[in-house]
Amino acid sequence: MQISEFIQQLPKVELHLHIEGTLEPEMKFTLAERNGIELPHKSAAEVRASYDFTDLSSFLTAYYDGMSVLRTAEDFYDLALAYLRKAAGQNVRYAGIFFDPQAHTSRGVTFDTVISGLRRAQLQAEQQLGIRSALIMCFLRDFQAEYAMATLLESLPYKQWIIGVGLDSDETGNPPAKFAAVYARARQEGYLLTMHCDVDIENSAEHIRQAVEDIGVARIDHGTNVIENPELVEVLVERGLGLTSCPISNTWVSDGSKVGLVKELVGRGVKVCVNSDDPAYFGGYIADNFQLVADEGQVDNSFLAQLSRNAVDISWAPLALKAELRAEIDALFK
Ligand code: HPA
Ligand code: ZN
Repeated sequence: MQISEFIQQLPKVELHLHIEGTLEPEMKFTLAERNGIELPHKSAAEVRASYDFTDLSSFLTAYYDGMSVLRTAEDFYDLALAYLRKAAGQNVRYAGIFFDPQAHTSRGVTFDTVISGLRRAQLQAEQQLGIRSALIMCFLRDFQAEYAMATLLESLPYKQWIIGVGLDSDETGNPPAKFAAVYARARQEGYLLTMHCDVDIENSAEHIRQAVEDIGVARIDHGTNVIENPELVEVLVERGLGLTSCPISNTWVSDGSKVGLVKELVGRGVKVCVNSDDPAYFGGYIADNFQLVADEGQVDNSFLAQLSRNAVDISWAPLALKAELRAEIDALFK
């Protein structure tokens, strides 16, 4: 079987996907028109041509600018349904979906508007496309911890719709420790815990140590700089604490895809998986990320299947679904 066909057939789980990062330029124009917003660019092609990220911060500028067209619950519904359709088409069976409520509440869009639109898309996609998903609420780490705490409290009436919390946005100077109290409260409230430790940030390895040892997260988003601390790599292995790596994203915000590190860490027993992060900005959904691992890493189908098993293992999907997916992945080799 061709590797691209194997990737298509492989049952997949996506765990690092920002729903706002799935806003394709075409949809940006549609929503801008619907909401009476003038855009500085004339066409989707022009928007795409303007993407020239060299680091996390230059990406984030475009990312926050893009989402200004998201205003109504219908906008969030359309956005999420378009992603779930695409993901289901690539045989993603379960997605943990990040959303950034503060990026919306800070510009006057209510928490309820955001989550009710996303929720409606999730239910429809599950019923009509068979793709399961769960929402993970991210705090913006470049805002004050008090604002994150207020957002956590604001989320409590919607707790049944949110499986866990994450931490994203500009990491430089915003270590995990800044959010220790917010994470302690989130844990108390029953949320599961993850956070970004972005690639090649100042003090990356120390941030990963804080996330693991001081905060006690269940997994880490990106996090491949753990390679700099072999003892911490051992801790990840012992605790089954996985990493959600995003190869195409890495090529835009750091030097290279880090596929070599993914291979190295998987070889040492770390549960690393592959994800698309912000596919509308970085130009590739999950299958494209698997393909990059195959091309650059010169790995075989069994390695790609291992990445998918790792995603199942470290996901927060229902246990019955996890068992079903493991059996389906194994069956590909029969
Ligand atoms: N890192 C930090 N912030 C983000 C990311 C990311 O990968 N994607 C969207 N916001
Ligand atoms: Zn991310």
